[in-house]
Amino acid sequence: MTRVTEQPEWQALRTHHEEIRDAHLRDLFADDQDRGERLSLFEAGIYVDFSKNRLTDETMRLLLALCETTGLREGIEAMFAGERINVTEDRPVLHVALRAPEGTRIVVDGVNVVDEVQSCLAKMSDFAETVRRGGWIGETGRPIRNIVNIGIGGSDLGPEMAHTALAWYGDRDITCRFVSNVDGMDFHEKTRDLDPAETLFVVCSKSFGTQETLANARTAREWILGSLGGGDTAVAKHFVAVSANPGRVAEFGIDIGNMFPMWDWVGGRYSYDSAIGLSLMVFIGPDAFREMLGGFREIDEHFLSTPFERNIPVLMGLIGIWYGNFFGAETQAVLPYSQYLSRLTAYLQQLDMESNGKHVTREGEPVGTQTGPVVWGQAGTNGQHAYYQLIHQGTKLIPSDFIGFAEPLEDLGEHQDLLMANFLAQPEALGFGKTAAEVRADGVPERQVAARTFEGNRPTTSILMDKLTPRNLGKLIALYEHKVFTQGWIWGINSFDQWGVELGKKLANDIIPELTSDSAPVLSHDSSTNALIRRYRSMRGRT
Ligand code: F6P
Repeated sequence: MTRVTEQPEWQALRTHHEEIRDAHLRDLFADDQDRGERLSLFEAGIYVDFSKNRLTDETMRLLLALCETTGLREGIEAMFAGERINVTEDRPVLHVALRAPEGTRIVVDGVNVVDEVQSCLAKMSDFAETVRRGGWIGETGRPIRNIVNIGIGGSDLGPEMAHTALAWYGDRDITCRFVSNVDGMDFHEKTRDLDPAETLFVVCSKSFGTQETLANARTAREWILGSLGGGDTAVAKHFVAVSANPGRVAEFGIDIGNMFPMWDWVGGRYSYDSAIGLSLMVFIGPDAFREMLGGFREIDEHFLSTPFERNIPVLMGLIGIWYGNFFGAETQAVLPYSQYLSRLTAYLQQLDMESNGKHVTREGEPVGTQTGPVVWGQAGTNGQHAYYQLIHQGTKLIPSDFIGFAEPLEDLGEHQDLLMANFLAQPEALGFGKTAAEVRADGVPERQVAARTFEGNRPTTSILMDKLTPRNLGKLIALYEHKVFTQGWIWGINSFDQWGVELGKKLANDIIPELTSDSAPVLSHDSSTNALIRRYRSMRGRT
């Protein structure tokens, strides 16, 4: 397949970029009184303002042409139909089946996966209801009140992010914790104040072979058995698993009856709306969880059927390509103006960077252009007092997504309007800046004028929703999932494998015995790694 960078549409964008790269948002707005409204959309209950981006109608026309030339529509349809678009792993990509309406048919290897999803959701709901009403009884006869999710990457970040995001809806009598790091201090800190008699571990691992998760699960088993005794019966009452690998779950000693399924057609980073979200469902309840799935579904339908000119994830993806591939921007800031979304960016880092951090096409050729951006940011307004200086006046171009909600979940007087005034002011300041003449007019001393001038022309997209509900969280996450899909498809890469994490895993496994052996190992790494291993051994009192 011809690489996108060799297509005439790409060349047309290059030429167009030469023409408009210096256009200033101040002028684009001055020349077009309706720009703010014309380049905004209200779809699926989401208001998205693209107008403060450095583009014109012609830019959008040329970007949209990339969808045609790369067959984006066919790509989307292939994903929803369960075709094996994860070509390196020869798998379908069906996170959309996790929220497909009951009765839909998506067949993989002769099985309607939507039926499997629905039966898993029913099993999850039973479990969640039982725990929530105090009916899941631990080894000593006490009801479970603490849920500790053990997992890493997609088996941690999603449920953890959503647990924080939807805390307002959660049952505060249930304590949920998330242990991911193989650093034992993570387990220690998350369990030190919990009573093992009231604690249940949800061990989440699609593969059930992840070193960090298995180490934490072994420590959890010792923690439970060391305190409660009871052997297999205690394990059965204090552990459930979520995995696509029943053999390994059984080998670990967890009863398969206490296992919730995963499927190889769901990528880890696309999985928190599967049983990987079990701890979340216990916390917020099955109804709120299903409401969240409804939000995902609404955006799935929007992505599948809305013309690309009004298709929010497609437009977000195209605008990201415009900055990354033509302006050379290397990062993308995501700035949610909601404390509850404080873990959103960490979640999106995996979603975007593990998906689109690729250097070859689906055919194995060098991709020939920049792919996924570095995604970063944290909840506003905190970031404003930390790194926004660089976005405003530094030398780098950092496209930024601003996410806000009109209604607060609790009305604490002035807070919401203060928060949203900042949500509105920052994109305005970033876009339009402040000229030297305006600075002088404020009476600023001449020696400060240059430093206090804001060049502006910093691009932003503002996303405004009514309220942070489970449904709106589902919509937001699905928007970013499909944005990532759009970009990956246009670049011609496979967004659904993650071979880049393998080499480090293998080397770590090779190094373990070299750190722990009684006698000095024969080392055959590079001289730097060899010296570090020797230094570590000596610091641990090993020869
Ligand atoms: O190593 C990367 C990765 O495979 C992620 O893609 C995944 O989310 C994470 O590890 C955890 O994998 P698992 O759920 O199989 O333990």
